[in-house]
Amino acid sequence: MDRHLQRESSRTVRSPNDSDTLSASAGLLDPAVRFRSCAIASVEPGSVHPAEAACLPATAVESRRREFAAGRACAAEAMKALGLPLEPIGTATDRSPVWPEGIVGSISHSGSIAGASVALRSSGIRAIGLDIEELLPLDEELYPEICVEEERAWLATRPPSERGLLAKAIFCAKEASYKCQYSLSRQILEFAALRVELDLPQHRFSAYFLEEVAPFAVRDRLVGRIWISAGHIVAALAVR
Ligand SMILES: CC(C)(COP(=O)(O)OP(=O)(O)OC[C@H]1O[C@@H](n2cnc3c(N)ncnc32)[C@H](O)[C@@H]1OP(=O)(O)O)[C@@H](O)C(=O)NCCC(=O)NCCS
Repeated sequence: MDRHLQRESSRTVRSPNDSDTLSASAGLLDPAVRFRSCAIASVEPGSVHPAEAACLPATAVESRRREFAAGRACAAEAMKALGLPLEPIGTATDRSPVWPEGIVGSISHSGSIAGASVALRSSGIRAIGLDIEELLPLDEELYPEICVEEERAWLATRPPSERGLLAKAIFCAKEASYKCQYSLSRQILEFAALRVELDLPQHRFSAYFLEEVAPFAVRDRLVGRIWISAGHIVAALAVR
């Protein structure tokens, strides 16, 4: 098992300083991608651009407003790091973010941390996927819903004490892959549409399509990075 997975699994992290640790691992990403993260508690819900605030339903509760603002704040910082001016990021009716012309990106939030990965289309990147999950084991009852047979067979070969966190890493890789493929396919997938192979020591994962999801064919592979930091699992990928 990845030693970081083991060491970090007992930590629960809430402070902004710890969320900086999350960014420290961004060197794993494609150099054209800018990744920024922050503690959700550090962002004021009212700080979003008015055009972004208008994307939230009037009934949105405080915690939703705060995580939304934190995701947008991370995206704004990542765009700034690319030398771009501040522009609002809209929300489509399907909830996916609407990036300004010429930009691709992805947003995620856990209970305490938000993050965003952004790149210029002109860098050759066509889609990005990002997911951040708290480093807590996946409930075993959810394995059949999240993991295909081959993934469950692999989990069964791992020591029982590791399985829950490894299953959570598979979940995280699938969520990131889902977001990445969605911007190209516009298709909602079941978890059974992808099979994930983890290589945690190398901070890599592969997600194989088990069904055709145009423009992806069966057996097409998405390759991403995955790392453990600040009590979280982060999975990210960029398709060129
Ligand atoms: C999109 C989805 C993965 C987001 O999951 P979540 O639990 O809300 O978690 P996150 O915080 O990581 O992500 C939320 C962000 O994803 C982005 N997002 C939402 N729908 C998206 C989509 N279809 N494609 C890409 N990004 C999307 C948004 O930016 C959202 O944040 P915001 O509303 O504050 O802007 C999930 O809600 C969903 O719709 N799942 C569909 C089924 C599924 O998971 N299939 C996986 C099969 S492999």
